[in-house]
Amino acid sequence: MSAKLVVFSGSLRKDSYNKKLARICAKMAESAGAEVDFIDLNELSMPLYNEDMESTQGIDSNALLFKEKLNSADGFIITSPEYNGSYSGALKNAIDWASRQAEGESMLQSFRGKYAIILATSPGAFGGLRGLSQLRLLLSGLGTTLLADQIAIPKAQEAFHSKNDEFTSEKRAESVQKLVTRLISTIIKLK
Ligand code: FNR
Repeated sequence: MSAKLVVFSGSLRKDSYNKKLARICAKMAESAGAEVDFIDLNELSMPLYNEDMESTQGIDSNALLFKEKLNSADGFIITSPEYNGSYSGALKNAIDWASRQAEGESMLQSFRGKYAIILATSPGAFGGLRGLSQLRLLLSGLGTTLLADQIAIPKAQEAFHSKNDEFTSEKRAESVQKLVTRLISTIIKLK
């Protein structure tokens, strides 16, 4: 039995450190035997959520695609930049869209009963830690079970190789791999 994971980042930036972190996590999860769907929110761009738009045009088509991916996954790995002490607006917008009930779905189907780990990285000294506690609140309020451990990586400009998706520190790679593996084994145990 394998775990099915969706991996995405809350940054839309082309050279985003958090996207890089998400790609590293995706690679680690695959090598640990998970089935992985990596999503770039820039490629699956969604309009700013507007209830009037939903009531006249329905749920945005990219939001529906995003929801389908979340619905079919057992769990998520989410990496988010910290903007002004919180997670990014792009991440909140995607989550707001995904929280809407599509035809044939149960309430909050995209989030309830799923497992997740959250990580962040930032050039700052705290690595986006403040945003993670808010993201934890948001996701657990939607019914997703988050593993207690999380990782915030400070000094992002030194933490990753600029030319490839690798950490500069072996110790860091080990701790992220451990967290990713724990998510997969939790899902397999509880599935
Ligand atoms: C930031 N940045 C930032 N960093 C941080 O550690 N704490 C913070 O509260 C903020 N606030 C903030 C607000 C806004 C509007 C911007 C644009 C940036 C810096 C941020 O961590 C940095 O730009 C990262 O590189 C963003 O992540 P990605 O895009 O590299 O993944």
